[in-house]
Amino acid sequence: MDLDKTTHTASAEAYEIIDIGGSRVGQSCRKALDEQFFQHRTGRCPFVDDMLMSSDAGLAQWSDLNRLPNYYQTSEEITLLEKHGAAIAAHILPGCSIIDLGSADTRKIKPLLDHIESRACAVTYYSVDLSRPSLASGLAKLATQYRHIKLVGLWGTFDDALEYCKSIASPRFLMSLGSMIGNDRWDDSIRNLTAWASLVGPEDAFLMGIDSHFDPDKIWASYHDEGGVFERFLRTGMAYTNDVLGVEWWRDSDWTLGGEFREKPLVHAFVFTAVRDVVCPAAGISFKAGDRIECYEGHKYTLDEMDKQFAVCGLKRIGRWKSPDGDIYEHLLAKADSV
Ligand SMILES: C[S@@+](CC[C@H](N)C(=O)[O-])C[C@H]1O[C@@H](n2cnc3c(N)ncnc32)[C@H](O)[C@@H]1O
Repeated sequence: MDLDKTTHTASAEAYEIIDIGGSRVGQSCRKALDEQFFQHRTGRCPFVDDMLMSSDAGLAQWSDLNRLPNYYQTSEEITLLEKHGAAIAAHILPGCSIIDLGSADTRKIKPLLDHIESRACAVTYYSVDLSRPSLASGLAKLATQYRHIKLVGLWGTFDDALEYCKSIASPRFLMSLGSMIGNDRWDDSIRNLTAWASLVGPEDAFLMGIDSHFDPDKIWASYHDEGGVFERFLRTGMAYTNDVLGVEWWRDSDWTLGGEFREKPLVHAFVFTAVRDVVCPAAGISFKAGDRIECYEGHKYTLDEMDKQFAVCGLKRIGRWKSPDGDIYEHLLAKADSV
């Protein structure tokens, strides 16, 4: 692979960012739109992948959104990692490569890295993200705090990261915090997790943060803040489809936003509904008033359902920790046939 590397070594700031496919993120987003928005599956309405919500502008808004008082998904997982960070970090040994899938502003990972640093344990922290500015600002913050942790940004998609991680030697400690993996429709979750499980060798581990809340009021309040921060974030994602498609087809005033629950499993989905006909021949887009676009689904699986996912994907659970404030869990996984 011919990869573009940028190294930042100014004073205390030392990290590098490797372009593992990030400069082609627009094409990856286009592919996701082709597969789920234009050629959506029978019985499903057009769906916009979470990748579209993670533009540079979208992730800048994400940092505000995850600090909203009712957005328990971030605050409870941080509390969990603060409380159980030492026990989790005990599985990370010197020489380990930590790979954080979808790191965003790196706020969550800090309690774990603090424990590792306090043991003077030399490791490399790879943070994977779609947005280069988000990677750079997250790593710059971490770089001022750690002496024993080498910091590397992997700029690209999860598919790019899966390929790149084959070149990173074991022991590897993979992390999917914030229900990034295992939080899709069942078949999609199994397909994604199986792909990552194929990377997990006998010396590796995989930490998965999963939201197993089932209280509709708490979930609803987390996604529907009064100030409309979440709505602005999603609308920024929809506007980004204009950049990806190269056509100004999306106009905020054409669409209203709502949310809905589905059952078995419990899913919260956001739904944009057209308030008038929306037609853009240049993009191959034609909606009637009342047509829907779905995005940003949150699937809430039980602990048993998660264990089933792990088993189907060739993984076994070797540890589990719960948030003191709610039902956010970290599941620690190993290859199923390892001792
Ligand atoms: C909602 S934020 C969650 C961040 C963090 N893991 C947490 O728990 O707070 C989603 C992050 O995943 C990244 N992301 C989403 N889809 C991705 C994909 N297909 N490939 C790479 N990164 C992705 C986004 O860039 C963003 O940083």
